[in-house]
Amino acid sequence: MDEEPIDERIIDGRAVAARVRARVAEQARQFAVEHGRPPGLATLLVGDDPASALYVQLKHRACEEVGIASIDRRLPASVDQDGLMAVVEELVADEAVDGVLVQMPLPEHLDPEPVVLAVPPAKDVDGFHPANVGALALGTPLLPSCTPAGVLTLLDEYGVQLAGADAVVIGRSRVVGMPMALLLLSRDATVTVTHARTRGLAEHVRRADVLVSAAGVPGLVTADMVKPGAVVIDVGTTRTEQGLRGDVEFEAVREVASLITPVPGGVGPITIATLLANTVRAAQLRVAHGDRPVR
Ligand SMILES: NC(=O)c1ccc[n+]([C@@H]2O[C@H](COP(=O)([O-])OP(=O)(O)OC[C@H]3O[C@@H](n4cnc5c(N)ncnc54)[C@H](O)[C@@H]3O)[C@@H](O)[C@H]2O)c1
Repeated sequence: MDEEPIDERIIDGRAVAARVRARVAEQARQFAVEHGRPPGLATLLVGDDPASALYVQLKHRACEEVGIASIDRRLPASVDQDGLMAVVEELVADEAVDGVLVQMPLPEHLDPEPVVLAVPPAKDVDGFHPANVGALALGTPLLPSCTPAGVLTLLDEYGVQLAGADAVVIGRSRVVGMPMALLLLSRDATVTVTHARTRGLAEHVRRADVLVSAAGVPGLVTADMVKPGAVVIDVGTTRTEQGLRGDVEFEAVREVASLITPVPGGVGPITIATLLANTVRAAQLRVAHGDRPVR
């Protein structure tokens, strides 16, 4: 049977992620030789949301593959804020733990803010602590948040020119849109950030040489909104009856774009690979600098 020809316009997130994981595995091996222990990641899952449980499981499997030791802590959805904070602090204090990741979102009755502040910048492999976001804003990222940093890796691996490019980001969340915009700015792109209150979204999007969509609205980006030759990165992942859907009308937009990420198989795999890379980086920084802030 003939194999389908490879469409070179489609960004292969799994292949890029595999290359990053191979590099991380080598660094983890070297770290273990030098320091007598592997880098360590602790995850904390509160409640039993199946999507969150799946993400946590994928993260542990990925750790195992590259030689990062992982701790899998779970708490019932009924835990109160004090109970949650006690476990976060316990994980933070563990010398063998270099990165602490509290899976978001938390159940409604729990406040994520104290949790974000309780994980010190040096162990904040998600890049959510204000000090890490601040470092990103100053153009000196230490542990940048995983999804936007992963998107940058994809763009670099495909040789996308960012300096001077018009980049448009859809979404301004703390997790994706806002740090994505800061990272693109740090690479000298001219960045427009759009969001749910933006008027005339299509007009903004049409100017993009590089478009990153992170709205979580299936079908939001249609082919008529995309400049011919643009690079289109679809971060959106929405579970629908037809399966996982991105924000971008993939089949139509791929005819217009010069490069495009599929959903799944685009941004997802590189996000997890970046978490592994951040964990090893956190381990290396911690042995070099202790928990002191570094630049
Ligand atoms: N692939 C991955 O690894 C990965 C990682 C993180 C998030 N995601 C996905 O990315 C999407 C965004 O995640 P998030 O955490 O930033 O979500 P969020 O809900 O916190 O933020 C969504 C952002 O999109 C904007 N927005 C919503 N509707 C819009 C519209 N019609 N036009 C313009 N802007 C609009 C909002 O103003 C907001 O800033 C979700 O689908 C999420 O599942 C994927």
